[in-house]
Amino acid sequence: MVTAATATPTTAIRLENVSKSFFASATPILAPLSLNVEAGEFVAILGPSGCGKSTLLRLLSGLATSSTGEIAVDGHPPGQGDDLAYVFQDATLLPWLNVAANVETLLRLRHVPADERARRRDAALALVRLSDRAGAYPRQLSGGQRMRVSLARALATEPRVLLLDEPFGALDEMTRDRLGEELLAIRERQRWTALFVTHSVAEAVFLASRVLVLAARPGRVAHDLRIDLPYPRNHDTRRDPAYLRLVAEVSARLRAVDPEAAAA
Ligand SMILES: Nc1ncnc2c1ncn2[C@@H]1O[C@H](COP(=O)(O)OP(=O)(O)OP(=O)(O)O)[C@@H](O)[C@H]1O
Ligand SMILES: [Mg+2]
Repeated sequence: MVTAATATPTTAIRLENVSKSFFASATPILAPLSLNVEAGEFVAILGPSGCGKSTLLRLLSGLATSSTGEIAVDGHPPGQGDDLAYVFQDATLLPWLNVAANVETLLRLRHVPADERARRRDAALALVRLSDRAGAYPRQLSGGQRMRVSLARALATEPRVLLLDEPFGALDEMTRDRLGEELLAIRERQRWTALFVTHSVAEAVFLASRVLVLAARPGRVAHDLRIDLPYPRNHDTRRDPAYLRLVAEVSARLRAVDPEAAAA
């Protein structure tokens, strides 16, 4: 396991001059974009709607291909290697499978043997504190619980890179805060590199070691900010003056990029 304090930094994600256009003639969605993310970083991505945040994650996961440039995820081209997991805004659970079977779906696709599958499923359910709901069906769960199952499904693959696209965006604020705290607690035990897209400045600053503020048309990194708040972070962090100062600063930067986006 890589920990930021002891390990030599290694590059988890590298983009070099990556651009994306959906039509040959159109303005690119992403400008030639270069970015390095070191292993163990927790990077939050903020930016106006339509600036290309989801597109960036899709390029990294291999769900979309870049028009120009080079991308490496944990040393591989996107879509190769089993080291990346993707968590979407909707839990995207299969309604006819119970929680345990939902958590195992990606492992089945990857032909992980049954006993190893069971071990990883149980470990992931314990991480998201849903061991006692393994037999429940998605419709029997709350929105927050469904999202925890979705997270467990990703964590069961034991990813080195975790991409999260507004994973808590559909949840109420209290549930969202609690899941953020749980996500950081899990990170203490299963160390991945995270790219976390959100529209909430407070959530970005709370979670991340680094915040990227993207600007639109074409999508580009307008600000690349270190969040120097020590981990572990918990409920008290939200009242820490240093945290509140950072939230105000990041909000101002986001407002400068897009006046509509900085309501949070
Ligand atoms: N398959 C596609 N074909 C054409 N245009 C697309 C396609 N996918 C995305 N776009 C365009 O690319 C731009 C960036 O979209 P993207 O979904 O990455 O934005 P976003 O930053 O994630 O926005 P939001 O915050 O609303 O989720 C948008 O203008 C969108 O219309
Ligand atoms: Mg999006």
